[in-house]
Amino acid sequence: MPFDLIAPEPQTDLAKAFLARQTHHLFVNGKHVPAQDGATFETLDPATGKVIGHVARGQKADVDAAVLAARAALETGPWASMTPGARGQLLWKVAQLLESRIDAFAEIETLDQGKPLFVGRWAEIPGAIEQFRFFGGQASKITGSTIPTGVTYQPQGKQVFAYTVKEPVGVVGAIVPWNAPLVLTAMKLAPALAAGCTVVLKPAENTSLSALMLAELFAEAGFPDGVLNVVTGFGAEAGGELSRHHGVDKVAFTGSTSTGRAILDAAKGNLKRVSLELGGKSPVIIMPDADLELAIQGAAAAIFFNAGQVCVAGSRLYVHASVFDKVMEGVVAIASSMKLGHGLDQTTQMGPLVSQLQADKVATYLSDGKRAGASTLVGGEQFGPNGTFISPTVVTGIKADMAIVKEEIFGPVVVAAPFDDVDAVIGWANDSDYGLAASVWTQNLSHAHRLAGRIKAGTVWINTHAMYDCTLPIGGIKQSGWGRDSGADAVENYLEVKTVCAVI
Ligand code: NAI
Ligand code: MG
Repeated sequence: MPFDLIAPEPQTDLAKAFLARQTHHLFVNGKHVPAQDGATFETLDPATGKVIGHVARGQKADVDAAVLAARAALETGPWASMTPGARGQLLWKVAQLLESRIDAFAEIETLDQGKPLFVGRWAEIPGAIEQFRFFGGQASKITGSTIPTGVTYQPQGKQVFAYTVKEPVGVVGAIVPWNAPLVLTAMKLAPALAAGCTVVLKPAENTSLSALMLAELFAEAGFPDGVLNVVTGFGAEAGGELSRHHGVDKVAFTGSTSTGRAILDAAKGNLKRVSLELGGKSPVIIMPDADLELAIQGAAAAIFFNAGQVCVAGSRLYVHASVFDKVMEGVVAIASSMKLGHGLDQTTQMGPLVSQLQADKVATYLSDGKRAGASTLVGGEQFGPNGTFISPTVVTGIKADMAIVKEEIFGPVVVAAPFDDVDAVIGWANDSDYGLAASVWTQNLSHAHRLAGRIKAGTVWINTHAMYDCTLPIGGIKQSGWGRDSGADAVENYLEVKTVCAVI
């Protein structure tokens, strides 16, 4: 596995100017403001460990101010009376601005998160742009219904006329993770704003910069002050305050299952609405009749893309025994040839993990797995100046009760096993607390759709994995979460139904 740590400087003027500010404030009520107690924290380039900026450490007073601004924007001012079509146009404007600055956003994300430039530039940020476009269109398509009722006790000569209206749920707290910051943020902001809500966004502490840059685009696009506020800070502080806050009507969260539980707990005080897009341990099932060339590439990409830091990563690979050795050989060859390095180096295929903490966590899973009797076919090393790189890893000799088989690792680690029997592999696939996604690789149409029907997951891909589109709902069953992001119905996450019933 080639490794070379050349760390080029960002090329775009916008990225350079943004980084030159060095200290990055909160964005509250249309203004950049420091945290009220002046506290900041460092954000690092995970490949080198170098500090690339200082970010405001928002706490209770800052969350209070942001929620107040969001409440005021919701109830008074131009946003409250704006037509749905006008809201949609503002979202389109954000899409257009983001597209025109995509290279700068990709550079900032790469520096702050570690991912190879192409991941942001060609997958995630275009995905974010499409979310803003799609939900910009949805804004003007939010409708209620007129409902013929069965009421018979109205006064003589009168009639009942009843209808429903969809109203914004209110102030939304959006809490997002660090693995794919811009697209996951867009999946919350776009439907929430299309619905007419206002938002307080809490980005992940490792990746605050792109969210603050995005907030500036919202201001430039013409969003009224207070409609989008960004409170950077730590999970238990800013995130905890936001999920507990009685001025917040809904929390929309993407992240780990354990933090999802903490958010639910915090949300119970005012019974705010909660939607959760959580972890996964998604199976990839390769049938004997699969197109193996496609399946091998697909299985490798399913776990090595973005260094496996993907909620739907294909982290359990089940291959029919008749083709197991061939598939292992192919995936191992891809793993061994992947070039690791700094994300801004255009030859890099895989970057570091987001932090030393995350890399240590992955390394612990690997050593625990080894101790439990699993064997490593390729990879398994932790290295780099900051210990943040993990080589692409394939583990075999697994048992169902091993932690590496059951738990979300969130690194470039796939566990693999051969199967003989379809019923057995479906049993393994479904033997998980998670139910986020899965993929099936076969050229037999009947196998494909029958298996898709039997797998317990929010998404099943056939002959592909992790294919996202703004039109497709994404989210999980079991402990992978509540509700769906993306797709036309996601706007419903941010709406309440009001019934109006009149005697006329
Ligand atoms: P996390 O789920 O704790 O972080 C996600 C977001 O939640 C961040 O913005 C964080 O600041 C916030 N947060 C943390 N604690 C909070 C709390 N008590 N109240 C409100 N907000 C809070 O994820 P973390 O700790 O960064 O990563 C740990 C593991 O979580 C990873 O190894 C991975 O397995 C999993 N993960 C899964 C993701 C997914 O999309 N499925 C995304 C990120 C992490
Ligand atoms: Mg960082």
